[in-house]
Amino acid sequence: MAEDDPDRRKFLKVTTCALGAGAGIALAIPTLRLIAAPAGATTVTGPSEPLDLGPIDRFRVGAEPRKVEVIAPIVKDAWTAARNVVLGAAFIRRPSNDKILALSAVCPHLGCAVGWDTAAKNFLCPCHDSRFEADGPRMTGPAERGLDPLPVTVHDGRLQLTWVRYKMGTSSREPV
Ligand code: FES
Repeated sequence: MAEDDPDRRKFLKVTTCALGAGAGIALAIPTLRLIAAPAGATTVTGPSEPLDLGPIDRFRVGAEPRKVEVIAPIVKDAWTAARNVVLGAAFIRRPSNDKILALSAVCPHLGCAVGWDTAAKNFLCPCHDSRFEADGPRMTGPAERGLDPLPVTVHDGRLQLTWVRYKMGTSSREPV
C-alpha cells in the first residue's frame, strides 16, 4: 500500500475519528454523571424531625404565648448544606401543667408574621387585620382558617417542635 493510497488515507481518517469519538464519550459519561447525580437525590427543604426549643421551664404555665424562632441546625439539599437556618417562628403557650400548645406565627392568609395583642389577648396579623383566638381559631379578617398548630413533645424536660409549613390562602390545612 503506497503512502498516498486513498484507501489507506480513508482508513486512517475513519480510525482517527472513531478513536477521538470513543475518547470523547469515555470522558463525557463520568462528567455528565457527576453533574447530574444530585438531580436524582432527595431535595431537603426543611427538617422533618423535631427541633429542640430548650427546657420546658422556659415556658411558664398560664403566661401569654411566647414567640420563639424555629431554627434548624442544618438544612441540606442535593448540592449544599446550611447551618442554623431560621425556618420561621412559633408561639408557645402552656395553658396548664400538662398542656402545651404551639402555633405557627405564619398567617394562613398570605404569610405575614402574626403578633400577640396583649390588650385584646388574641393574635393579630398586621397585614390585613386577621385576628385569631389565643388557641388559634380564626376570629375575623380575610384568613380562611385559624393559625396552624405545630406538633410538640417534651423529651427529658426539653420542648421539641416539628416545623410544618402549610399552604396559604386556603381553608383546609395542606402541608407544602
Ligand atoms: S397576611 Fe395575614 S391577614 Fe393577610
